[in-house]
Amino acid sequence: MFDFKYFTPTKVIFGKNTESRVADLIKEFGGTKILIHYGGGSVVRSGLLKRVTDTLDAANINYVTLGGAVPNPHLGLVYEGIELCKKENVDFLLAIGGGSAIDSAKAIGYGLANEGDVWDFYDYKRKAEGSIPLGVILTIAATGSEMSDSSVITKEEGLVKRGYSSDYGRPAFAILNPELTMTLPDYQTACGCTDIMMHTMERYFTQGGNMEITDALAEGLLRTVKKNAVILRDDPQNYDARAEVMWAGSLSHNGLTGCGNDGGDWMTHKLEHELGGLYDVAHGAGLAAIWGTWARYVYKNCLPRFKKFALNVMEVENTGSDEEIALRGIEAMEDFYRSINMPTNLRELGVNPTEEEFALMAEKCAIGVGGAKGSAKVLNEADMLAIYKASL
Ligand code: NZQ
Ligand code: ZN
Repeated sequence: MFDFKYFTPTKVIFGKNTESRVADLIKEFGGTKILIHYGGGSVVRSGLLKRVTDTLDAANINYVTLGGAVPNPHLGLVYEGIELCKKENVDFLLAIGGGSAIDSAKAIGYGLANEGDVWDFYDYKRKAEGSIPLGVILTIAATGSEMSDSSVITKEEGLVKRGYSSDYGRPAFAILNPELTMTLPDYQTACGCTDIMMHTMERYFTQGGNMEITDALAEGLLRTVKKNAVILRDDPQNYDARAEVMWAGSLSHNGLTGCGNDGGDWMTHKLEHELGGLYDVAHGAGLAAIWGTWARYVYKNCLPRFKKFALNVMEVENTGSDEEIALRGIEAMEDFYRSINMPTNLRELGVNPTEEEFALMAEKCAIGVGGAKGSAKVLNEADMLAIYKASL
């Protein structure tokens, strides 16, 4: 077991109709002029934005709005948001939506509280020394950005998708109403479940430091999401299943399921980020498309963990060699992806890269991780290229 820091300052308000408390929460955290930041319009169509602005109007809280955060959110809108906030003297950010709106808001916060180009943080040139408070009303259970320290932004020039992590990015509050996720397309619900599981799996397939308590939480979370993803496939309006998945999403990426380990593997995420940057695929689907190939490439280097995963999460038969059990677990995970209509390779994802594009993704991925990265197995650029090609 390694020493660890566990810092989750986000106040969580969970349950039906909790968005009606947004004005009180903003006041509690000192907001006087708000930027409401959202995505491509689902919050307009669902009527959620109107409900929120009506609540703020009734509480005499001033706000400006900025929509347009696309999946794999763009740096250009971040710059626009920073300028708007400066002009309007905004002192509090409210993101309504999913990881894309939240991450874009986090970047706007860094840009407001720090001099210079905000991209420097995502380009690993320097670290943020503050932000401004951020509240979240979550509409899709997926990234865990509502409690996480990270945000992921895509620079349009060169299609560079990069993440930046800082405790300053952790939201002040997160309103989690599972009912708000009931308007999601089935595909996005499944992408979300995949991403949620992956945030814990990235922390699970490691070489050391694993604690019994952390493993029990991780395995319980994974079994819960796996079960409820299938329930939601058949019954998308099931409140309890929506609630299980939503809370799992927050816990999966707030650090809880990694306490004591060596920091996690994260290579499936890093490989996916290049796919997201280049082909604009949904993050969860990109993860599912790459995971099986990654797992087969690395499992021999991390056999005890793959065996434990197979038995305790995928609940496969405990017979044969450790390798056979591990491989059975990987197959079972891919079967699960197929059962919720997620891709298990790049073609199913709708992507067919050229040789040059494979090489470009591997090169950018290696640059993004500073050369090599991974815990289950440390991967260099040649490994990344091999995994990309094998995942076709
Ligand atoms: O943009 P709108 O119109 O709102 O539509 C969105 C979008 O098309 C739609 N949607 C969201 N809630 C809805 C809804 N449609 C109907 N009803 C609702 N209730 O769903 C689509 C996806 O939304 P998005 O915010 O892009 O999804 P997600 O939460 O999966 O975020 C993905 C982004 O987050 C990054 C990903 O890389 C990607 O850029 N990540 C952020 C992380 C973090 N900050 O901690 C960690 C993750 O690993 C991930 O990398
Ligand atoms: Zn993710």
